[in-house]
Amino acid sequence: MMTSSEETTCPERSDSDFARLIKRNVSRRSILEHGIGLGAFTLVAGTLTPRLAAAEPADRFGFAAVKANRLDTITVPTGYNWHVVARWADPLWSDAAPFDPISRGTGASQERALGDNCDGMMLFQNGAKNILAVNNEFVNRAHLYANRWSKLPENADDVRKGKAAHGISIFEIETKLDRWKVVQDSPHNRRITADTAIDIRGPARGHSLLRTATDPDGVTALGTFNNCGCGRTPWGTYLTCEENFNGYFSASDTDTVIPPELARYGIKHRDWGYAWASADNRFDIAKTPNEPYRFGYVVEIDPLDPTSTPQKRTALGRMKHENAEVVLSADRRVVVYMGDDERGEYLYKFVSEAPYTEGSATNTLLDRGTLYAGKFNDDGRGEWLALTPETTGLSSSADICIHTRLAASAVKATTMDRPEWVAAHPNGAEVYVCLTNNKFRGRKPNRGGDPTPVGGPNPRARNIYGQIVRWRPDDGDHGVAGFSWDFFALAGNPMIHDDDRAGTKNVTPENMFNSPDGLSFDTQGRLWIRTDGKNTNSGDFEGQGNNQMLVGDPASGEIRRFMVGPRECEVSGLTWSTDKKTLFVGIQHPGAKGGSHFPDGGDAPPRSSIVAIARDDGEVIG
Ligand code: FEO
Ligand code: CA
Ligand code: CA
Ligand code: CA
Repeated sequence: MMTSSEETTCPERSDSDFARLIKRNVSRRSILEHGIGLGAFTLVAGTLTPRLAAAEPADRFGFAAVKANRLDTITVPTGYNWHVVARWADPLWSDAAPFDPISRGTGASQERALGDNCDGMMLFQNGAKNILAVNNEFVNRAHLYANRWSKLPENADDVRKGKAAHGISIFEIETKLDRWKVVQDSPHNRRITADTAIDIRGPARGHSLLRTATDPDGVTALGTFNNCGCGRTPWGTYLTCEENFNGYFSASDTDTVIPPELARYGIKHRDWGYAWASADNRFDIAKTPNEPYRFGYVVEIDPLDPTSTPQKRTALGRMKHENAEVVLSADRRVVVYMGDDERGEYLYKFVSEAPYTEGSATNTLLDRGTLYAGKFNDDGRGEWLALTPETTGLSSSADICIHTRLAASAVKATTMDRPEWVAAHPNGAEVYVCLTNNKFRGRKPNRGGDPTPVGGPNPRARNIYGQIVRWRPDDGDHGVAGFSWDFFALAGNPMIHDDDRAGTKNVTPENMFNSPDGLSFDTQGRLWIRTDGKNTNSGDFEGQGNNQMLVGDPASGEIRRFMVGPRECEVSGLTWSTDKKTLFVGIQHPGAKGGSHFPDGGDAPPRSSIVAIARDDGEVIG
C-alpha cells in the first residue's frame, strides 16, 4: 500500500545497482545471473565514455529537467534555444510557389517543396556542405486538403499533391548568424516521392510476385512511401524504411480476393483515405494485384549524388519497417537491427554475407545475407533465429524476403509490443529498442494468429505505456546468435498507479512519459528518447503533457526530460550537426486533431517542421 507518493516513487538511487531501478517484472536473479546489471555495463560505458563516468551525477546530462506542459510551442532547458529550419511545403527551389495557406498547394508546388510529416532524418557532409535527408512519412489529410469540403483528395491533382508530399526530401542547409536555413536551388536538393523509379535489389528482384504489367521483369518499383525511421551505413548512405504501406492500397472490385500473404500485412479493400487508386491503377489491387509486394522494404539512397537511383534492399525483409540500425560484427559483417511496428510483430536482424572493408565496393553488401528474428526467453536470455528455407518451410530466400512475417511466425520468434526504433550504443555492444505500446498484449493474437502472451520483454497486459528493452550480444559480437536482455525502462504513471503501470523506478512523476518511439545515441553514449503517445494529459496520462524528448543514461538508468513538443505532435527524427553543437529535431504532425498552429502561431495552419536546438554558450550537446 502506498503511504507517500514521494517515498514510493522517488527513492534514493544508487548508481551502482541497476537492479534497484527495476521495480517489478524483472527478476533480480536473472539480471545478476546473466550479467546484464549495471555493474557489467558500467565497465563498458565507464571505460569508453570517461567524460560521462567522471562527471558529477548532477552534470551528467548538462541540462536541468524541463517540466511537462501542454503549450503550443517547443520548450527546451534554460540555457538552450531553438528555431525552425524548415516546414512542410517550404520550397526547395526558388521557382516553386511559396506555401499557400488557403489552397495548401498543388501537385506541382508540392513536388518542388519539402514533404509533409518529417520523421527519420540524417545529416551528411559533402566537404563543407551540410546535406539533410528527411523522411516524409505520411500526410495530415485534414491539413493538406483543408481546401476541400471532405478534407480528402477529390481529384487527380490532389492525389499528385499527396504522393509528392510523401517520400524523402534531400536538401542542403547552411547556418548564417546562428540560424540554419534551406539553401534553395542547391545542386544537392532532391525529392524522392511515391513516383520515383527505384531499383529492386536482393533476393526478391525479379520474383514473380514483384512483376506487374508495367514492370514485367520485377526490377524497378515506382516510389517509396510511408518512410518512417532511418539508418546510416558506414559507407555514408541513407537508409529509409517503408512502414505502413498497406494504407495506400484499395480494390475497385469488392470481390477481389485478398490472399493471406497480403492480409498479414493489413491489405484491405479500402485504403486509409489517400485515394491513390482513384488516379493510379498501381494502387488498385483489383487491377495490379502484385503492387503491394513491391513495398515494405528498406531503401538505400546515396544522399550526395542526386542523380543516383535508390535501391530497395529486399534482403532486409518485408515488414512495416521502423528504422534500420547498422553496426558491424566482430568480423566486420554488416548487421542491421530492425523493428516491425505492429502489435505482436517481431524484431529482426540482418547479417551480411561479406564483410565491410573501408574503400571497397559496397553496392551488394545489403543484397546477400541472412535474416534472423528475435526470441526472448523469460530468464533474460535470448537468441536470433535464422530465417532459412529449412527453418521456415518457405521455398527460397526470395520468399523469406517477401513473406518475412510468415517466416518469423514459422520459427516462433517472440511477438513484441510494437517494435519502433532500435539504437546501438556507440561505445559497446548493447542495443536498445522502444516497444511503444500494445493494447492487445495478452488479449489478442497478432494478424497471423500468433499468441501474444504476457511475459519476457512484454510483461504487461493491455500495455498502454510501452517500454525500452535492451540486449547485449554474447562475446560483445553483434554477429552471434545468443544475447542477454533486460529492461532499461518500463514507462508508466507513478502519480496515479502503484501497480506495474507505475513503471520502473527510473520513471518518476518528474520525467514520466508514454509510448517511447524514436531512439538515438549521441557520441557520448547518452540515449535520446522521443515519444509518440497520448497527449491528453488526463486519466492514465495525467501529468505527462505533450509528446517530448528525454535523455537516458544507460549507466545509471536515470532519465531526464529535455524538450516538450507543441500540441498534438510526435517528436520524430533526430540528427546532429557535424560539430555536435546543433541538434536537429523532427516535429511531426502538430495539430493532428486540429489543436495547434505550430510553428507560425496566430491562425496559421500547423506544419510539420524541422527545428534546430543549440546551447546559448555554443558548446556541444551530443
Ligand atoms: Fe512510423 Fe512506427 O512509426
Ligand atoms: Ca511517425
Ligand atoms: Ca515511429
Ligand atoms: Ca509511433
